[in-house]
Amino acid sequence: MSIHTTDQGWVLETATTGYALGLNAAGLLTHRYWGRRLTSPDDYPPAPNPLAWASFNSAAQSTPEEYPGYAGETFIDPCIKVTFADGVRDVVLRFESAEQRDGDQPELRIILRDTAYPLRVTLHYRVHHAHDLIERWATATNEGDAPISIERMLSAEWHLPPGSGYRLSHLTGRWADEMNLRREPLVQGLKVLESRRINTSHHHSPWFAIDRGAADEDSGQVWFGALAWSGNWKIVAEVTDFDTTRVKIGLNDWDFAWRLGAGEQFVTPSSFAGYSDAGFGKASRSFHDLVRAQLLPHGDAVRQVLYNSWEATLFDVDERSQVELARLAAEMGVELFVMDDGWFHGRTSDRAGLGDWWPDAVKFPSGLSPLIAQVNALGMQFGLWVEPEMVNPDSELYRAHPDWVIHFPTRARTEGRNQLILNVARQDVQGYLIDTIDRLLTEHNIAFIKWDMNRSVSEPGWPDAPGDQREIWVRYVQGLYHIWGTLRARHPQVIWQSCSGGGARADLGILRLADQIWASDNTEPTARLQIQEGFSQVFPASTMESWVTDMGPEYLPLSFRFHVSMCGSLGVGGHLVHWGAARRAEAAGLIALYKAIRHIVHQGDMYRLRSPHDHAFSAVQYVSKDKAEGVLFAFRTHIPRPANLPPIYLRGLDPDARYEVEGFAGARSGRAWMEAGLTLELADFGSTARRITEALRD
Ligand code: GLA
Repeated sequence: MSIHTTDQGWVLETATTGYALGLNAAGLLTHRYWGRRLTSPDDYPPAPNPLAWASFNSAAQSTPEEYPGYAGETFIDPCIKVTFADGVRDVVLRFESAEQRDGDQPELRIILRDTAYPLRVTLHYRVHHAHDLIERWATATNEGDAPISIERMLSAEWHLPPGSGYRLSHLTGRWADEMNLRREPLVQGLKVLESRRINTSHHHSPWFAIDRGAADEDSGQVWFGALAWSGNWKIVAEVTDFDTTRVKIGLNDWDFAWRLGAGEQFVTPSSFAGYSDAGFGKASRSFHDLVRAQLLPHGDAVRQVLYNSWEATLFDVDERSQVELARLAAEMGVELFVMDDGWFHGRTSDRAGLGDWWPDAVKFPSGLSPLIAQVNALGMQFGLWVEPEMVNPDSELYRAHPDWVIHFPTRARTEGRNQLILNVARQDVQGYLIDTIDRLLTEHNIAFIKWDMNRSVSEPGWPDAPGDQREIWVRYVQGLYHIWGTLRARHPQVIWQSCSGGGARADLGILRLADQIWASDNTEPTARLQIQEGFSQVFPASTMESWVTDMGPEYLPLSFRFHVSMCGSLGVGGHLVHWGAARRAEAAGLIALYKAIRHIVHQGDMYRLRSPHDHAFSAVQYVSKDKAEGVLFAFRTHIPRPANLPPIYLRGLDPDARYEVEGFAGARSGRAWMEAGLTLELADFGSTARRITEALRD
């Protein structure tokens, strides 16, 4: 059983972790424990009853509430803040009841009620036992007659064991430089990470990991979490003046408001969090397993090798140019040919066309079907790029519906990449996009859609909003999920890719709709190594689309470029005509190798052996779930002096089984490969992919 009710409250247990909460003497729902699973449900400590410190510091301020409201003398950054119809602006939540649902994913619901107003808040705790994760979200219900204005409502507050001295790991970046891993000490005060851009953003990712300062990939305690949401989000790590540390996560309250009418409910997105007693690597693998087993529409099916024409032909697409590329791609073993931007009505550059999602009559006088038929005849499936949420002012759609974009009526409409954002919170916009993309998918044999989103929001107005205009931040994302979800339901076989100028829409929410994510527009392989390391903190390799393009210096061998991309879902994006026959033949060999190992990369466990952020010599390893096979990738960028490369210690093998590692004579035990390691020789800008195979047992 995963949920226990005892005299002290509730205990949630996963395969290796325990999480306890309960009511303290003051009747507050407080946190009791989060860490390694204990022997018995009675082992978990009781709810704490802190003492007041001074007239400036009440007991409530030191109480680790599970879901603090803005109320009384708490002074903690709250999870929820509302204004009631009479102007009262605090929330005094007290325990009302608890419910438990058993099943594959047991759930505990704690129902809290305001002491004076008809506001009910339900805290949901779902146990993902096998993945060592707990999912939390909250629901607010207005049980009265008058509206309530919600000004902040986060998904969860997660408490660390009492103490400070913790270290926060997070991901930061910008366009073409996403997902840089940062680690920094947490000190008294608030550390805020957020998006205010209406999408997840290149700049920060809704993910955190907190350790005691010395955890590494294999050891140390790590508490980690992420939010399943593709819009404005916020993470606040708070170290109090009383040596306690907590982190809260949810919808960003910046410029947020929600009018909760009589009888209505507001549901937050889910946050997922876990505890690892074996470092950052185990934490990542928990997320990888969750994503593949529970979020992705197509689960852990291996991904096809794709070719994408963007970097080769840019906007200059037509049947002839695409078929020429498709022929060469098919010869190399590519399985899916994706035509990127430039194919639709009036799209000669980024100045026009967005919104008019039908084939351009000049470039494709007979439509897309002849091209698709030729791609299919070459043995490949066909995929297409769209950017549904956007419109160029120079388009039929904008001329017909200038009021459909997000805007303030008295302000200029700031363009980004010459485009404005359709307000997908509007039902008429949703209807238009569903019909238009549905028609494309119904009329053509399209197996794959790349869904792009190439700017951040400005002038976030919704003049004829039915409620508070500030609801746009949430309703936009709900609208996006509705459009995408409807299309997915109508065309379940289609594989979707989430792209937002690279990796600005990479989150656990979008992975319920998209199977793949374009991690970055930066395809330079040495830069990509670091981006991929950051990406792998949360997302499994199968979701990480990675193309071999023409970006990168001439001295980077083709094999290095391929090895980097083989660490994810391999694609090719170079100009194949310019590659020449010899390079294409070499690429064909590398694609064949990838097809032989991709099930391990996509479906296995990932171990980051040496960080490309910290070292010019880096390595990553994948091991099949049954531990019978694996693959090791190692990369040397530039080390400006003669170097003996340090040993690589493999991970994840069965210590008692015997394995062969390609390039090394004889089988050795898994323990030997992991404890004594192996030594590689690589020149500058050299790389290697070595298969690891369990030797036949006697
Ligand atoms: C974005 C994407 C690219 C490409 C272009 C097309 O930048 O990230 O991969 O699709 O748009 O305009």
